[in-house]
Amino acid sequence: MSDWYKKMSFYQIWIRSFADGNGDGIGDLWGVYDKLDYIRDLGVDGIWFSPIYPSPNADFGYDISDYKNIHPDYGDLEQFQKVLDRAHELGLKVIMDLVINHTSDEHPWFQESRKGRDNPYSDYYIWRDKPNNWDSLFEGNAWEYDSLRGQYYLHIFAKKQPDLNMDNPAVRSEVESILRFWLDMGVDGFREDVINFISKKEGFPNGLPFLPAVNGLPYYKDGPHIYEYNRQFRKVCEQYDCFQIGEGPMTTLQSALKYLSGPQKCLDMMFSFDHMMADCFYTEYMHRPFSLTKFKKAISKWQYGLSGKAWNSLYLENHDHPRIISRYGSEVFWRESGTMLATAYLFLQGTPFIYQGQEIGMTNIRLGRIEHYADVSSRTNFNRYHLKDSMAKRLHRIHVSSRDSARTPMQWDDSPHAGFTVPEATPWFYVNRNYKRINVKMQQGDEKSILNYYKKCLQMRKNSRTLLIGDYIEHLPNDKFVFTYERVWQDIHYLIICSFTRAMVPFRLPDKFEGRHGQLVLSNAGHSHGKEKIRSVGFLKPYEARVYRFRF
Ligand code: NOJ
Repeated sequence: MSDWYKKMSFYQIWIRSFADGNGDGIGDLWGVYDKLDYIRDLGVDGIWFSPIYPSPNADFGYDISDYKNIHPDYGDLEQFQKVLDRAHELGLKVIMDLVINHTSDEHPWFQESRKGRDNPYSDYYIWRDKPNNWDSLFEGNAWEYDSLRGQYYLHIFAKKQPDLNMDNPAVRSEVESILRFWLDMGVDGFREDVINFISKKEGFPNGLPFLPAVNGLPYYKDGPHIYEYNRQFRKVCEQYDCFQIGEGPMTTLQSALKYLSGPQKCLDMMFSFDHMMADCFYTEYMHRPFSLTKFKKAISKWQYGLSGKAWNSLYLENHDHPRIISRYGSEVFWRESGTMLATAYLFLQGTPFIYQGQEIGMTNIRLGRIEHYADVSSRTNFNRYHLKDSMAKRLHRIHVSSRDSARTPMQWDDSPHAGFTVPEATPWFYVNRNYKRINVKMQQGDEKSILNYYKKCLQMRKNSRTLLIGDYIEHLPNDKFVFTYERVWQDIHYLIICSFTRAMVPFRLPDKFEGRHGQLVLSNAGHSHGKEKIRSVGFLKPYEARVYRFRF
């Protein structure tokens, strides 16, 4: 398999909120078609579609009821083919979300499976007479009693997301057939949802009682047949020039390396989570002030750990996490922190992913009542948080952590509903009120906008071998406010300096660059781009980012 994905960057579409092309208030494939030029102009090379299959939307597409079709809200297979063909004409690859740990409970397989123990689908899911003590990640305990079948089924996520029994060879054949279906249509790869959870420990042992929500994790993560099953799916992909990135919740570097290299290699890249835990545990729990040193430690661990052995995925935002300006930056220093955050991750070694709206600096929405949130995990978490706390305090935690913050309609312009849908329609979800200030149209015409800064960064990556393949070296790791790293290839060095604070902080150069001639090639603070001797003098402005290029 070739490694074209190493030179790429991807744009993630969460379709429901991207662009409504048929005027019903819901994003769709007609809307995507119209925006393909916009995506190409951003400078990315591919699109990852979060699920666009039929789904009752208990988890907005991650509960699939038909793997080989398109949700009627979004279009049909013919419209998908048009989008795919046009994307290819524009030089964009397209990858689909593959969700095979679980289906919807409305999937015909589950509906059949519930009916009894002796039909062809009875073994497609995980049924037991007695549940163990595992908690689900989304809703209560992980087993739900089904009165028709007279047994409990396992659901690691919501009740409406029963886990498939991957130990059943018939289920694995179904997965092979799903892969072939989309590959034959021409898609270029898959983002594989919670792929490290698909093999469960035999006997389903009880988990440790003091690990609420994740007590079963040691028994369903990296389970006994995980590489074998994923190798089986890889073999199908190997027949096509296709690329696979797995989502690996709670994966460790050691375990990721097994998926990504060596004899059991079954994925090209993995989405890891360590760097997303510098202010919380898994976004929704144990919130604490952001620690830049923790963040840098996690980044460096993966940059050094995969170097020469595998390839990193780079992301800060997606449909499961709040917006990064609200999270790590500042809505007051909105432009500064939005551009700094782009600088901080787009020049790392790996393949960057940009989530819709991130490129224009969209921020968190703050809704007044929990009932206004649509996401199943936000609602559960609200009731999981310390119930003794005031409503306001619990709601505040939702404001900082909800997945819905990243799921508000895309802000295209300053017309009604931010141009996401026609004025007469009601958007399916709340539009962030700041759309008159933060929207694509306004930023297209502004040379200094966050949007144009993203374009610049992506162009710089493309034009530089050092930024694409150069080694990563971290500098000044104990600095609590500034992230400083180098990329080096042969005699070309890039030095990336990003301040994560609203305070003025001293500008510090790593010793090896002190007094050398360097050229400032990117600045989010309006500094001129001359070639000069660089010294540790002066200050970095709030959320300032600089990129220098040296030759020595
Ligand atoms: C990870 C997906 O990114 C998330 O949105 C989903 O809820 C869970 N997996 C379950 O499919």
